[in-house]
Amino acid sequence: MDLDPRATPGPETYRFLITAIVPRPIAFVSTRAADGTTNLAPFSYFNAIASVPPLIGISINDRAGDPKDTLRNVRESGEFVINVVSEPLLDRMVQTAGEWPRGASEFAIAGLTEAPAHRVKAPRVAESPLHLECVLHREVPLGNSVLVVGEVVWAHVEDAMLTDGRVDPAKLAPVGRLGGELYSLMREVAKRPRPRVSRATGEAIG
Ligand SMILES: Cc1cc2nc3c(=O)[nH]c(=O)nc-3n(C[C@H](O)[C@H](O)[C@H](O)COP(=O)(O)O)c2cc1C
Repeated sequence: MDLDPRATPGPETYRFLITAIVPRPIAFVSTRAADGTTNLAPFSYFNAIASVPPLIGISINDRAGDPKDTLRNVRESGEFVINVVSEPLLDRMVQTAGEWPRGASEFAIAGLTEAPAHRVKAPRVAESPLHLECVLHREVPLGNSVLVVGEVVWAHVEDAMLTDGRVDPAKLAPVGRLGGELYSLMREVAKRPRPRVSRATGEAIG
């Protein structure tokens, strides 16, 4: 099968992309609006995009000219928190992804608990084991989406998720997004050392 995106309707290209680029990490994004109400929603057009300073990107699609609540709140407050979706949070994360009315807090809808963050006013999801507190670095319009670039200003991970001081993927058990209604669960971790070679000669080092 071949697909020419320039000759294919947008929704069809979208459906292909979300099954072709998999699994994707899920940013479970909590925000606070100017009126104090809170919001929580998942976004899988998400990744780390720079290290110094630590920047992450989340792409939020246009909703027929009506910005998603997450984008509105990020614009109002300049802040947000990314909560990692570990396996026990899968069903509750999906609950928050309904097109709930503005002002309805998906925390209450999904039975999740708001916890104060360290550096931002947006709440953390208490049930998530890893949080990245972010301030808005910049917004980049991209076609029918907006790339929200955030700088991580505080990170927190439960000690129980660590092995030898590092985040252990088997303990974190992050959920990945596949296409449509499908998700991947962490079942096995593969370890493969990279080749260590001299860039000058191409010969093995050590
Ligand atoms: C696992 C998952 C990943 C999603 N990823 C995105 C995404 O990357 N970009 C996007 O615009 N919407 C994405 N959505 C849809 C939003 O979560 C959905 O539109 C949500 O209602 C937005 O909520 P809000 O209006 O409270 O911000 C995703 C939904 C799910 C279930």
